Amino acid sequence: MHPIRLGVNVDHVATLRNARGGTHPDPLAAARVALASGADGITFHLREDRRHIRDADAEAMRAALAAPLNLEMAATAEMVAFACRLRPHAVCLVPERRQELTTEGGLDVAGHRSALAPAIAALADAGIRVSLFIDPDPRQLEAAAAVGAPVVELHTGAYAERPEAEFERLRTAARQTTTLGLECHAGHGLSFENVAPIAALPEVHELNIGHFLLGQAIFEGLGTVVAEMKRRMIAARLAAAGQGG
Ligand code: PXP
Repeated sequence: MHPIRLGVNVDHVATLRNARGGTHPDPLAAARVALASGADGITFHLREDRRHIRDADAEAMRAALAAPLNLEMAATAEMVAFACRLRPHAVCLVPERRQELTTEGGLDVAGHRSALAPAIAALADAGIRVSLFIDPDPRQLEAAAAVGAPVVELHTGAYAERPEAEFERLRTAARQTTTLGLECHAGHGLSFENVAPIAALPEVHELNIGHFLLGQAIFEGLGTVVAEMKRRMIAARLAAAGQGG
């Protein structure tokens, strides 16, 4: 089984900073702690309203960090232009509605192929690896492959709320990525409690986790929780490999 990567999403370090309008806590400093504690990359979502991460945060992380950066963003002309200037390792295209608290559902790739294809092509031309954040739905997976994205990130939000009812859909979707030649990532709502079954899926290459890690860091410290999350991911994978699956 191939190794699994942990992308730590530092958005909510900026949420806390912005609550007081100053410079502390600094997302870049949090990214450094996460990387020193076992994170393989850093993820951040530059939202249209800049409610947490701001352009300057993205630029500071790009200038200071050698680790892979994963920029989550809507497929708008403004964001595509920003990404092409920033040149992060990866961009994950997500749906975005201003009023939502977080990214509530996956991207409707099947319904927006013609709008997404030029954005994916422009990002790919800039040397950026593009992933599409989608629900674990066969139709969306087929559309993601058809539109030319090399990677999909499966939305685990529904699984996080109803693990028993939703796991099978994720397992099936992860299997389908192999048939379609897509690299499989997953994320949203993952925690110490629910990460193991997802980390054990052999097709999964990367998990992107934010809110739980930052929340738990209040009690245990960011370095400790990042290291513990990575330990759980690897343990789940080794256990699955030992069982022949
Ligand atoms: N992946 C994507 C595409 C997301 O939009 C988010 C939330 O910003 C995450 C992963 C991380 O979700 P959470 O903060 O619930 O761990």
